[in-house]
Amino acid sequence: MTDQNQFNGPRFDRKAVLQRAFDLAQIAEYCYQLDGTITYIDRMAVRILDLENTYPDPSSLIGMNISELLVYEWPVGKLREEILEKGNAYHTVYPFKTLSGKERWMLHDSCIATDPDTGKKFIQAVVRDITNQKLAEREIARVNRRLRNLARHMESVREEERTAIARDIHDEIGQSLIALTLDLSAIKKHLTFDLRKKTDSMLEAVKTILSDIRRIVTGLRPAGLDDLGLVAAVEWELESLAKRTGIKGVFTAPDGDISLDEKRRTAAFRIIQESLTNVIRHAQATRVEVSLKVSAAMLIITVTDDGVGISDDSVASDSSFGLIGMRERVIAVNGTISANSVPGRGTTISATIPLNDL
Ligand SMILES: Nc1ncnc2c1ncn2[C@@H]1O[C@H](COP(=O)(O)OP(=O)(O)OP(=O)(O)O)[C@@H](O)[C@H]1O
Ligand SMILES: [Mg+2]
Repeated sequence: MTDQNQFNGPRFDRKAVLQRAFDLAQIAEYCYQLDGTITYIDRMAVRILDLENTYPDPSSLIGMNISELLVYEWPVGKLREEILEKGNAYHTVYPFKTLSGKERWMLHDSCIATDPDTGKKFIQAVVRDITNQKLAEREIARVNRRLRNLARHMESVREEERTAIARDIHDEIGQSLIALTLDLSAIKKHLTFDLRKKTDSMLEAVKTILSDIRRIVTGLRPAGLDDLGLVAAVEWELESLAKRTGIKGVFTAPDGDISLDEKRRTAAFRIIQESLTNVIRHAQATRVEVSLKVSAAMLIITVTDDGVGISDDSVASDSSFGLIGMRERVIAVNGTISANSVPGRGTTISATIPLNDL
């Protein structure tokens, strides 16, 4: 039989090896009776509890109650109840405050053991200080929140700017050109034949500029989204897609418009618009179906194509900014979004947007 304490010849002091392992991994250990009375506590535990100065000798803590050594964030005794319930292994992250008021977290693994001499049950806890990790997690969450807010803000600023530019181009340049057309038509009557021909070509040029302007304005802020509503704007978008690309567009929506505030209407429209742009650019589809439904105070959007399908990698990628933008837009209005795909048989983007604030 091999000696478990033997490795390559020299004998090991198993206890010392274990102690060094615990110290290296900064693992602390303490034991207490079911009523909380401490029966064993090591130096690392004293350090985690921030009691090194008050109790330099861990053995002086024996006989004290664990609840005297830290301030529980949970109701006193809840942890003990849970350990007793789980019995032989209870793993938890345990937030607490030290007696000096420091906020800390420990990774707390414990079990019920039985004292071989007295037959009494006690709790054995093995703990690690994970305060730094928790603070880092908090910081990451805070930075994430801040970035998300910034992205939302940028998006709404962009939307406002686009609307303002579209309005200025439409109202000012568009109106001036229409006035120019009327003036040209008026003076045309008094001109010679050659100059009239010249005026006709000028009128033709102004007409082209006006139609370019209409295209630019619609690109900036979808036609009718604000005046006619979501249903009309999506219908128009789908028709224009079919005209430009030859992809067959099918649209289902409730009769009349869906009542949504500006924020939700824009979010819904931009999600559909990005989905349709993706169908044109990536799907190689022959048909796309957009459906708008209202159920249980939710707007349910689906955009289904019959193209090549979207890969899981594309959906999860950190550089899929179109998809990330869609996700951020629905999160901003407490909605949900998912992309489902069968390779070679198309993609469905499904989104839900609550009609009102929850
Ligand atoms: N309907 C679709 N069918 C097949 N693949 C798709 C579809 N929609 C998206 N994809 C895939 O998912 C990727 C990510 O889409 P996403 O909209 O995020 O980015 P993009 O369209 O490539 O660029 P952009 O940032 O301009 O939107 C695409 O590059 C494409 O490979
Ligand atoms: Mg895209």
